[in-house]
Amino acid sequence: MSMGPREVAFNTLQQHFEDARHLKMRELFEGDKDRFQRFSLRFQDILLDYSKNLITTETMAQLFELARASDVESWRDRMFHGEKINNTERRAVLHIALRNRSAGPITVDGEDVMPAVRDVIVHMSEFSGRVRSGEWKGYTGKRITDVVNIGIGGSDLGPKMVYEALKPYRHPQMRAHFISNVDGAHTEEILEQLDPETTLFIVSSKTFTTQETITNANTARSWFLATAEDTAHIAKHFVAVSTNREAVIDFGINPDNMFEFWDWVGGRYSLWSAIGLSVMLLVGEHNFNALLEGAHAMDNHFATAPLEQNMPVILAMLGVWYNNFFGAETHAILPYDHYLRSLPMYLEQADMESNGKSVDRDGHRAKYSTGPIVWGATGINGQHAFYQLIHQGTKLIPADFIASIQTHSQLTQQHDIMMSNFFAQTEAMMRGRTLEETCEAIQASGLDVDDVHDRLEHMVFEGNHPSNTILLKRLTPFNLGSLIALYEHKIFVQGIVWNLNSYDQWGVELGKQLAKKILNEFESEDTTAVHDASTSNLIRYYLEFSRTLDERADAENGS
Ligand code: F6P
Repeated sequence: MSMGPREVAFNTLQQHFEDARHLKMRELFEGDKDRFQRFSLRFQDILLDYSKNLITTETMAQLFELARASDVESWRDRMFHGEKINNTERRAVLHIALRNRSAGPITVDGEDVMPAVRDVIVHMSEFSGRVRSGEWKGYTGKRITDVVNIGIGGSDLGPKMVYEALKPYRHPQMRAHFISNVDGAHTEEILEQLDPETTLFIVSSKTFTTQETITNANTARSWFLATAEDTAHIAKHFVAVSTNREAVIDFGINPDNMFEFWDWVGGRYSLWSAIGLSVMLLVGEHNFNALLEGAHAMDNHFATAPLEQNMPVILAMLGVWYNNFFGAETHAILPYDHYLRSLPMYLEQADMESNGKSVDRDGHRAKYSTGPIVWGATGINGQHAFYQLIHQGTKLIPADFIASIQTHSQLTQQHDIMMSNFFAQTEAMMRGRTLEETCEAIQASGLDVDDVHDRLEHMVFEGNHPSNTILLKRLTPFNLGSLIALYEHKIFVQGIVWNLNSYDQWGVELGKQLAKKILNEFESEDTTAVHDASTSNLIRYYLEFSRTLDERADAENGS
């Protein structure tokens, strides 16, 4: 069988890799004074420095060739034109329409979706304007002070991450809360902080069938009615964001208080839709629109910039380089910004639910490695926790370091301390420290090398660890929008190169179905169902102890 262009490009890269695997970044920097200029790019207020990677101009040229051979450009255009590229669900993929600020139409099945998108934004703006101004009142006439988003997965992680990121822009008299976990402890912990008279619940669920969300929404309704008593008051305190009108009405929410979105918005790409209502309520229409504008600007860049100067494409192809040639298993997201602390968790879903697949879009088993394990935490905390492994472990861990030049904090001196660490870490990862340099450092600190000769090897850093630096001028709504869209398009490009459908998520279904069956068994206390011996015994053990009083726990609780 003859090889297609993608396989040819892969093979060419494989040959190049045989030499490139020996690259030493220190030498590359020493041999090329323009390396930073060569391998960095600016997009509006975002600087991407990718010079600290195990690449040469030849590597990048071949990676772009692989992107071209995978038809990234034509797939991108198909996405932007509303084609049903989500082939297993027969859906278009149009989160870009949600932030389309141009006057142009975007059509699905011959119908322009933009009027409906704009109508929902107007509905959100009117509603959030009324709540923010205090015109919208709770059932006792008090203004709303607390907004609770009840949702999970994309209906939680996106708005939660954006709300945290944009906290400096929030309404001074309002707070947002996010309930996602069906663990009653999460629900209770939030509810006990709230006053039913001044709380607004947003039930956010694309399907409105998600067990965790509907369970929590019912709990919230009971909690509310325990004080408000009259179900007529629900209308002032519960709104819904969904594609499922009937289910919203069945739940008892006034359809006038439903904010719609559409099946061409994937759950993990939905924060730009009405799923972002909690964000708009807290930061206002103007800032929410700026978020959309930032994303739209990145969409335009992605749609028009040549691959060689296209930020999402560059990040994607660097990821492919490490994933498919160096065999890296993971990719770390390391924000040096307290406000971006939920970005790693958000990107875990965005990336892993999109590209964590082993069957390609044509239904064939992928014979290559696909989406990486994405993980991370705020970098400065990570330094004192897991960076040891990044610096001296045996794994190759490509990492994105993300920070803002200007801080929202008044403690600017602290910002300098954090940023000095930010720059130090990527330098240390790249340069490492040789044995000779280690000896020099020991002498410079006044110690005698002979006194520590048995520990010297432990103090050496091999270096040559790759990283990208993404530097925002400031964490504004606009820049945040661009940053998120940057990652969305990176994920898209990688999905195309790996020939995946990045927009379905069949892998979450089996567990959901089994859980339903097991819950029935709990309810009937019938343990005769056939499971493997491990699961059966665990269920029996659980039932035995969950249905009996635990005297020790009672004693500890003082009851
Ligand atoms: O279980 C996975 C998932 O379907 C995600 O893709 C989605 O973001 C989440 O559940 C929540 O779904 P929904 O918005 O329909 O409640």
